[in-house]
Amino acid sequence: MIWPAEDLWLALVAKQPGLTVEVLPEIDSTNTELMRRARAGQTEPVLLVAETQTAGRGRLGRPWHGEVGHALTFSFGLLLTPADWSGLSLAVGLSLARSLDPQGELGIRLKWPNDLWVKQPQTSTGWAKLAGILIETALPTGVTYGSGPGREPSRYCVVGVGINIASPVAEGLSTAPLGLQDLQDSITAPAVLMRVAEPLLATLLAFERTGFAPLQNAFNARDALLDQPVTLSDGRQGVARGVDAKGAMLVETEQGQEAISSAEVSVRPLSPASPCLPEQADTIRQKGGL
Ligand code: BTN
Repeated sequence: MIWPAEDLWLALVAKQPGLTVEVLPEIDSTNTELMRRARAGQTEPVLLVAETQTAGRGRLGRPWHGEVGHALTFSFGLLLTPADWSGLSLAVGLSLARSLDPQGELGIRLKWPNDLWVKQPQTSTGWAKLAGILIETALPTGVTYGSGPGREPSRYCVVGVGINIASPVAEGLSTAPLGLQDLQDSITAPAVLMRVAEPLLATLLAFERTGFAPLQNAFNARDALLDQPVTLSDGRQGVARGVDAKGAMLVETEQGQEAISSAEVSVRPLSPASPCLPEQADTIRQKGGL
């Protein structure tokens, strides 16, 4: 595969001085590697891309598979000092969705807290998974403190992204997967990286300054679960009502509205998405939310 690493580096280093871009043919996991480096004291800004991961990791300890050329897999490693970390994975998902589907025409939506889904009426949930995000942080040795009121410590933040490019194998996955090539013929992993990396870096740097709140409305405009019946992992049911200014998911249950912020709580749509989605997309466009 041919990666435009030099062009990408020029675009990224203009936003984040000192950042390097590395493209490796194979590694266990780009997240694991950057966390290893952070524990060894290497906390320079970096974008690490791997053509293949032999031990890719997903959320909640699940494996994340991707064959060569079938997925774009990369991690940003950056020292960040936001006043509040909540909502970071939502900000990352929103940035990816905006880059991949600026007008919302491809039907790429956000599944709280950190997946990108695409409408697929023929699947059991009505959705297929296009991409996932895994964020991990390490407290570096000789830690520095921010200058804000809370004087939060800087953390080395590893933002891992896996985007399916070719149609993946669905075996053993709870949500049917989908590749970007199913939506856009012959798009390649390097082309997708060129599209998403710079806006994502800009998002991470903006998040450090302003947190999630300014992105709340834009997230809700692309929320796959908005106004859908959902089941929480503790078995309770409710209706999803978007996210609050901290990125917590609001669910109307029999007990009233709850703000769910724990990453350990999973939320599933109760039934296949209703076929009202084209109208929803129109509403979103009218609001100018995309
Ligand atoms: C999920 O869907 O649960 C999250 C998937 C995250 C996968 C990416 S691929 C690049 C980075 N390296 C990893 O091992 N995981 C993330």
